Amino acid sequence: MIKWKIHHKKESVSTNLDALAGKSGDVFTADYQSAGRGRLDHKWESVKGENLMMSAVVALEEASPEKVATLPLVAGAAIAEALKVDSSLKWPNDVWYKNKKLAGVLCERRGDNVIIGIGLNVNAYPIALKDRSTSLEEILGERQSVIEIRDAILASLSSFYQAWLIRGFDEHLRAIIAKRDYLRGKTVSVRQTDDDSEPIEGVCEGIAEDGSLLVGGKRIYAGEAHIEGVR
Ligand code: BTN
Repeated sequence: MIKWKIHHKKESVSTNLDALAGKSGDVFTADYQSAGRGRLDHKWESVKGENLMMSAVVALEEASPEKVATLPLVAGAAIAEALKVDSSLKWPNDVWYKNKKLAGVLCERRGDNVIIGIGLNVNAYPIALKDRSTSLEEILGERQSVIEIRDAILASLSSFYQAWLIRGFDEHLRAIIAKRDYLRGKTVSVRQTDDDSEPIEGVCEGIAEDGSLLVGGKRIYAGEAHIEGVR
């Protein structure tokens, strides 16, 4: 098990930025972020003091770029498995409950380390996002302890990360992810973010052994998937 060392601030610009000064095993948390960052230059909006905003630093131990590309999925699986609700994983980096987002992951490579940034709606979400967000409190019907959830996720992240480091994105990890795959079997439109091509549309066949999304026989390595009728 990783012995995590927590560094907490009441206010941060972004815990992923705080983590730039960290070493493997350090975890940076905050009650509030003034400029929380999401994937694809999105902002991560949260509610002061109500939610989990955390960035964990892990060492890559010479993992190849192809292997590193699967880490956001592994982090998502670690979060989903740690929660008391039956959540899904929406490729590449979200944890959803039914048709709404519960948590997001932003992994950023820094030299020999990766910063795993996790934003989870524990007791609230911004009102402006109510059509597409949910929280643990809303699902479970009572307030949840941010600290208990932080610790459950860190324990789970430790075992998922170590399994991934030793055995890679293997069948066992892929089976856990496949069981929670939100997109598989749905008709999706995926905007690719690593080139300017038209969105790929078709039925999603799941996640491949390299972490790419399979849609209509094509592999998609970076993008954002939309499902008709879901915001
Ligand atoms: C996404 O859904 O696009 C990823 C969101 C990641 C948000 C978390 S909150 C803690 C950490 N610090 C940040 O600035 N971002 C991540």
